[in-house]
Amino acid sequence: MLDLSKNKVIIAIDGGAASGKSSISKNIAKKLNILYIDTGAMYRAVALYFLQNNLEPTEENILKNIDNINIRLVNENGDNTVYLNGVNVTDKIREDSVSKFTPHISQFKILRDKMNEIQRGFANNESIIMDGRDIGTVVFVNATLKIYLTADIKVRAIRRLKDLKLDINDKNISEMIDSLNKRDYIDMNKEYGALKKADDAIVVDTSHNDIDKAVDEIISLLKERIK
Ligand code: DC
Repeated sequence: MLDLSKNKVIIAIDGGAASGKSSISKNIAKKLNILYIDTGAMYRAVALYFLQNNLEPTEENILKNIDNINIRLVNENGDNTVYLNGVNVTDKIREDSVSKFTPHISQFKILRDKMNEIQRGFANNESIIMDGRDIGTVVFVNATLKIYLTADIKVRAIRRLKDLKLDINDKNISEMIDSLNKRDYIDMNKEYGALKKADDAIVVDTSHNDIDKAVDEIISLLKERIK
């Protein structure tokens, strides 16, 4: 097993919606005994605050409310439990309404700057694996290892339907493909923190759903980097 006691590593995992980021990152975190941070959960928690308070997604509203939004991520059993102003919102932030609203809130620079600062803080004292959209391009440009995950859109749609415990039928698959494509389009075309592959990121394709293989591949790449 890889001994990270003498090396502080930062692993940046980026990729589109349902590309396998969180399952792979959680698995690696467990195997290497390092901290896992799901940055999507942070943006989702801010979006939930906006929805709960009937706020329009505007820069002005972010400015007015940013200091009232306290997000805490606690690593529990290898997963992130998410608290919004002290309330556990781990399940709530996965609801479809939140998924649809989050891209509208995550585009503002003022919010992203604040999130980036918090995200960098997580790596102050320990090794970390962090997943998101701009981890390798903005948050940790000097990460030890940058991975860009891709997967066939149909595979991603079925994966997300399973996560949401919905029926896997042609209609649901086609609607989910549509929804994932829309979210990725917004994420890839936003002015700040857009989803894109960092020049020095390594592409890992998860179309064949072999999460264990991807995990082993990424750990081998890390070993190469730090030897
Ligand atoms: O990874 P996810 O699907 O939980 O992300 C939720 C939303 O947050 C998604 O629309 C992309 C956005 N996001 C972002 O803009 N930057 C990140 N670092 C992580 C997520």
